[in-house]
Amino acid sequence: QSREMEQLLQAHEWTSKLYHFLLKNTEHGKPAMDYLKSRGFSDKAIDTFQIGYAPARWDTLVQFLDKRSFDLAAMEKGGLLSSKQDGSGFVDRFRDRVIFPLHNRSGKVIAFAGRTLGEGGPKYLNSPESRLFSKSRTLYNLHQAKTEIRKSRQIVLFEGYGDVISAWESGVHNGVATMGTALTEGHASMMRGLADEIIVCYDGDSAGQAAALKSIPILEAVGFVIKIALLSEGMDPDEFIQKHGGERFKHQILDGAVSSVKFRLIYLKKNHILLEEDGKVAYIRDALGVIAPLPSPTEREIYLKELSTDLQVSFESLKQECNQFRIAMQKKAPLGDNNDKRWNNGRHKK
Ligand code: CTP
Ligand code: MN
Ligand code: MN
Ligand code: MN
Ligand code: MN
Repeated sequence: QSREMEQLLQAHEWTSKLYHFLLKNTEHGKPAMDYLKSRGFSDKAIDTFQIGYAPARWDTLVQFLDKRSFDLAAMEKGGLLSSKQDGSGFVDRFRDRVIFPLHNRSGKVIAFAGRTLGEGGPKYLNSPESRLFSKSRTLYNLHQAKTEIRKSRQIVLFEGYGDVISAWESGVHNGVATMGTALTEGHASMMRGLADEIIVCYDGDSAGQAAALKSIPILEAVGFVIKIALLSEGMDPDEFIQKHGGERFKHQILDGAVSSVKFRLIYLKKNHILLEEDGKVAYIRDALGVIAPLPSPTEREIYLKELSTDLQVSFESLKQECNQFRIAMQKKAPLGDNNDKRWNNGRHKK
């Protein structure tokens, strides 16, 4: 059992070296190298993240592993190979793709993500879930970032590989990614073990922003100080850095990250047309749903004052309405006394 795991880890390690070698040193790898260069990835980044290339052939890895006497059926179960349709043998799982190795916390390669060079097909093909690899328990780049995260007690959370790599090239070495948008409680507690503050830096498109909103209660539950970075419409951190440079990314996007309350207000505001009175009223109601449950009176005051300035409504009337909101809430579910408790959509959370 554990011998099988050892073999599989060994195979992943060698496979990542093979793909990295093929990218850097062969004609086969040239188009992939050109692609990576066109995206602005440096040689240093390609080495640091052990990026590779799986050639457009069916048996590159099959031959490689077979020659080294690996049990091919076990390699198929572990996600490196695929079975031929007629069951007569194995073929490479990754073909004609840029390869990003995924590591566990201690730096062992446990899976791969392969990106198409062009458009068509699924953009990323990942290793399947296996005894080695579970997406919900893996954070991209955690093995390299953990030192910096521990030192600064801060972590930057991205969606994708390119975001982590471009941020790293800009000197942001405490970045990890969830590899898609599903942040789990497991991810949250793993990160909380290393850091006190988190900057959520998801894509600026609606999927990314919705995922950022969803991440708030999960990150609050483990006691993170949360900041959320705001990216302009449709851009992801990688694209921002390629377009505006790393310095602007650090100073404008990361330093400009807002509190989770502020983010929720900004998010809600987008649903309303504030030039119309009923739009304004509806937004105020939504906003009070976020502000009223805040346990700290000064925190409530700060956001109510901002809202008052923003909407040209008197602070007194907002405060009055907020208090009414609290009384209504209290009737539904009595408020606790602990300062650190938070309410989400009126639901009491531990
Ligand atoms: N993802 C995935 N499979 C897909 C699409 C996305 O596993 N078909 C994961 C990848 O980890 C990806 C992340 O979700 O990095 C974020 O998705 P997206 O923003 O769509 O991709 P980018 O990382 O921006 O990809 P790229 O910059 O290479 O186009
Ligand atoms: Mn190298
Ligand atoms: Mn995205
Ligand atoms: Mn993206
Ligand atoms: Mn991208």
